[in-house]
Parts: sequence; structure tokens; C-alpha cells
Amino acid sequence: MSSSTKGIVLAGGSGTRLHPVTQVISKQLLPVYDKPMVYYPLSLLMRAGLREVLMISTPRDLPSFRELLGDGRRFGMQIDYCEQPRPEGLAQAFVLGREFLDGSSACLVLGDNILHGPGLSETLTECATLRDGAHIFGYRVRDAKRYGVVEIDDNGNAISIEEKPEKPRSSLAVPGLYFYGPDVCDLAADLEPSERGELEITDLNRRYLEQNRLKVTVLDRGFAWLDAGTHRSLIEASTYIEAIEERQGLKIGCLQEIAWTKGWISKEEFRREADAASGSSYGTYLAEVLERAENKSAGG
Ligand code: DAU
Repeated sequence: MSSSTKGIVLAGGSGTRLHPVTQVISKQLLPVYDKPMVYYPLSLLMRAGLREVLMISTPRDLPSFRELLGDGRRFGMQIDYCEQPRPEGLAQAFVLGREFLDGSSACLVLGDNILHGPGLSETLTECATLRDGAHIFGYRVRDAKRYGVVEIDDNGNAISIEEKPEKPRSSLAVPGLYFYGPDVCDLAADLEPSERGELEITDLNRRYLEQNRLKVTVLDRGFAWLDAGTHRSLIEASTYIEAIEERQGLKIGCLQEIAWTKGWISKEEFRREADAASGSSYGTYLAEVLERAENKSAGG
């Protein structure tokens, strides 16, 4: 199973902002409505067509992710695991992930970022073809100084990028979803820790900007980007997912459904997943998906 772009989910960190909720459990395993938070970023990698994924988390939490997701075969994927001993920055993913990436292009997604919107699969699939430079996103927010902030010119070219600036030069926050060409590990290896002692993803992106190799796509207002980093945003994310799912009768971030749609697992494997989850609303949904497909193929 080899694709020329591989995925990394960074799901570590100290989680202190959510204590005591995260005192004994990883933030990225907390529920966002009807599934663990990590399902959503993982589903983005799957929708980009990436089947080889490295899951990075803390020594305490990594075994829980492994228990939840296993080797990935259930989802037609290959999931590897790697400890991040201390939260020393997002760009450390490319120091820890060098062996796993083995010269491939990479997509990094933060384990607490949820992205939903029209045409996302097509955009992600296109981004996954990147073989040189970096491709990030910009998303208009009210309070940009809480994030990485990118400034673009009238032609959409990036002109500055800063991490949590006092005075943001634009309203475009950078979501935790980044695509890089094969030299990302070399660039990351050259980074120095910031004042707060972290290898900053924004410093990495600035290197690409300085080399004129940073592309930015602005996600328009039709998209929802949520990062479940506070108690309130956790509830907001759950409410958002609930509202859409209940209205449409379709789930967001259903890994088995994506895997089956992509032809990564067979109908029989999908059925086994549905049976194993029976008794939960998630299992009922999987059974409905199966039934719908069977009716369709029977011309019903
Ligand atoms: O959510 C998007 C933002 O994520 C970007 O706009 C910022 O540029 C980027 O620096 C980051 O900002 P945060 O303030 O959200 O970073 P935080 O330290 O909270 O870490 C984000 C997630 O990554 C969080 O779930 C914990 C995890 N993490 C963090 C660090 C520093 C790790 O797994 N390992 C780490 O070393």
C-alpha cells in the first residue's frame, strides 16, 4: 500500500485548557456529538485519499488511540503510531515522522480540528497531489490573534504569516491542516524552538513563504472550521455536528462509510462493522447506509 502523500494526525499536547476533563483522557478522544473527536481530522485525510497515516500522541494516550483505531485495516488503511514525549510543537511532527514519511509528501492535520463544507473532498484530493512547496488554508475569524494568521495580497499570494500576533495583519486564521512536499522534514529539522520552547508550524510555513513556495487557499464563508480547544467550543462543535446530521440523516466523519465509498473495504467488511456497532446509533446508521446501497443496486 503506497501512496506518494502520507498523512499525520497530531493528537498530543497537555490538554490543560480542558482540565479536569482531560486529566485522565486525551482531548482528541472526547466525544464531538456521536464520535471521538479524532474521527473528524482522520476523515479529512481519508477524503484526501490518504491511506497511510501516522498517529502521534503522548506516551499516556497513544495506547488508547491504538485501541480505538488499531492498525487501520478496518478502514482500509494502514495506521502507525508514534509517541511525542513532550509537547514541543506542531512542526515536531516532521522530526518524529521522518522515517514514516520516507521521502513522501505529507498532510498534517491537528487532532482537534474539524472542517466541513462544500467541495471539500475535491479540494483535499487536489492538495494531496502537491509535490513541491506547501499549501495551507485561510479562514476568516473574528478573533484572529488566537491563531496563526496569514496575510494575502489582491492576487491571493501570501505576504506574511505570524503566530498569535498581538495585532493581526488580517482576519485570516490558518486552520490546522497543512500539505507539504517531500522536503518538509529537512525544513523542519532546521527550525529553532520559539520563545515558548516549541517548533512552530508557523515558522515552518514562513520558510516556505520566504522561498515563494507557500500557497494559500481561502475557505469561504460556506465552510465551518471548528477547533474544539475550550469547553465552549467543544459544545459548539457537538451542537453543529448534531444539527447537520439530524437534519440530513447523513453523518459527518463516518470512517467506515468513507472507506466503503472509496472502495477501500468490501461490502462484507462494511457489514461486519455495522454488526459490530449494532446497538448504537452509529451502528444503526451503518446498517442504514448498507440498506440504502442494497436498495439502490436492486433498483429500488
Ligand atoms: O487550530 C489551528 C491553530 O493550531 C493554528 O492556527 C496555529 O497556527 C497553531 O499554532 C495551532 O495553535 P494552537 O494554539 O491551537 O496550538 P496548540 O498548542 O493548542 O496545539 C494544537 C493541537 O495540537 C492541540 O490539540 C494539541 C496538539 N499538540 C500541540 C503541541 C504544541 C500536540 O499534539 N503536540 C504539541 O507539541
